[in-house]
This record gives sequence, C-alpha cells and structure tokens, in this order.
Amino acid sequence: MKKRILFVCLGNICRSPAAEAVFSHLVKSKGLEEDFEIDSAGTGGWHVGQPADKRMRNSAMKRGIPITSLARKISSYDLDSFDLILTMDDDNLAAVSNLAKQTGTNLDGKIKPLLRYATQTNLKEVPDPYYGGEGGFEMVLDLLNDACTGLLEELLN
Ligand code: 4NP
Repeated sequence: MKKRILFVCLGNICRSPAAEAVFSHLVKSKGLEEDFEIDSAGTGGWHVGQPADKRMRNSAMKRGIPITSLARKISSYDLDSFDLILTMDDDNLAAVSNLAKQTGTNLDGKIKPLLRYATQTNLKEVPDPYYGGEGGFEMVLDLLNDACTGLLEELLN
C-alpha cells in the first residue's frame, strides 16, 4: 500500500510546496514513486489556487527541483487520509491539532514537526521565508533537503 505523506505550512505557497517537491525529487531519484503519495496543504486559505511563490520556485529550479503544486487549505478529510502529517513550525502543528480536536479526529501520533528528521541543524522549525530576502529561500531548501533525506531513510528502514 502507498504511504501517504502530507507536508503542511501556513500559506502553502513557500515551505510546504517546496517540501513536497524536495521529498518527491528524492523519492523519484530512488525510483520509488509507486510507493508514495505526496502532497502539501496550508492551515490558512489566503492563497488557495495559487502556484508557489516565484522566488521559491526559482530557487528550487536552480537545484533541478520543479515545484508545480497549487495552494490548497488542509481539511478534516486530510487528517484521515494521510498516514503522516509533517508540519513546518509549531503554529502549523497547533493549528492541525486544533482541527483534529474540532472534528473529533484521533491523529494517532501521525503528526510530527518535519525538522525532527533533520541531522544537520539544531533548528526545530522551518523559518517562513515569505517576508525575507533571497537567502531565506536557499536556507529553507537546505533545511528541507536535510529533513526529507532523514525522513525517507527512516521510512525505508
Ligand atoms: P508559507 O509562507 O507558510 O511557507 O507558505 C507564507 C506565505 C504567505 C503568507 C504566510 C506564510 N501570508 O500570510 O500571506
């Protein structure tokens, strides 16, 4: 059965679409596309239907990683249908936990901060690059690559 992985941030236009793309790229490089269903969503709805932030798409493309997803807002349906929900920061984690509480969903330990899987940083949250400069996007992509590599290793063990 496919393992269903959902990456979550606030707007679903910077961090989580990039995480989705970085993880998909790693999965593809190992020829494991058939084993995973990979998606992303935001806890907020302001950018629904929009492509990812151009600065993030450009930074990722320079690494050969296309970001193609359109923003969507997380729903209670996602809480049931995904096996693992990976949040970018503590606010996202609290928002998803609240949604679960409101809808009476038991998350069964399936929600985790993505950076739990990183090995090259002490950061616990992926900083939001939206209001910062170009360097923020590179730093976020480095963090996502580190954490997604650790995540895939763990899932394959
Ligand atoms: P993201 O970044 O959560 O990484 O997609 C954000 C993008 C836009 C906004 C917030 C966060 N916003 O409030 O418009």
